[in-house]
Amino acid sequence: MTIVYDDPEGQAEDVPVRRIKFTVNGRKKIAEVEPRLLLAHLIRRGLGLTGTHVGCDTTNCGACTVLVDGRPVKSCTMLAVQVDGRTVKTVEGLAGASELHPLQEGFKEEHGLQCGFCTPGMMMAATALLEENPDPSEEEVRWALSGNLCRCTGYQNIVKSVLWAAAKLRAEAGEA
Ligand code: FES
Ligand code: FES
Repeated sequence: MTIVYDDPEGQAEDVPVRRIKFTVNGRKKIAEVEPRLLLAHLIRRGLGLTGTHVGCDTTNCGACTVLVDGRPVKSCTMLAVQVDGRTVKTVEGLAGASELHPLQEGFKEEHGLQCGFCTPGMMMAATALLEENPDPSEEEVRWALSGNLCRCTGYQNIVKSVLWAAAKLRAEAGEA
């Protein structure tokens, strides 16, 4: 994987590069990165997975949320080298080949988005919640999403979307 950096001072030979191995959305990857590279930029620029959004770059908005070893992290606040040997899941890893993930269906059914900028981060935070707690209360959903900001929806429909998805996942698990 090649990532192109700006080098206005011509100092490229002074910059150390580290090779990292990791898995993203089930696929093994190797990357050579500067130690200062943020995970969000590895994901967007290096991997081309632009479903992970960067809103604030300061750990406030949650738009950049991905799962690292199953835990939600704000990828604008983590260095790419920190995922060496670990597993990353982005919003692109949610859907199956031909069908939406129940969370994606839930956001559609319950009108959980308007502009959609916050939506990938919301879905990844919700994914972590539902993997740990398949039957959350409304309060638990609100708490799980409390690190994610939305400037459009007023949150009510986002919470309803997650509860819709939780019910569908439970129903599917019951059928299995
Ligand atoms: S872009 Fe990472 S928290 Fe806002
Ligand atoms: S849908 Fe626009 S920021 Fe959440």
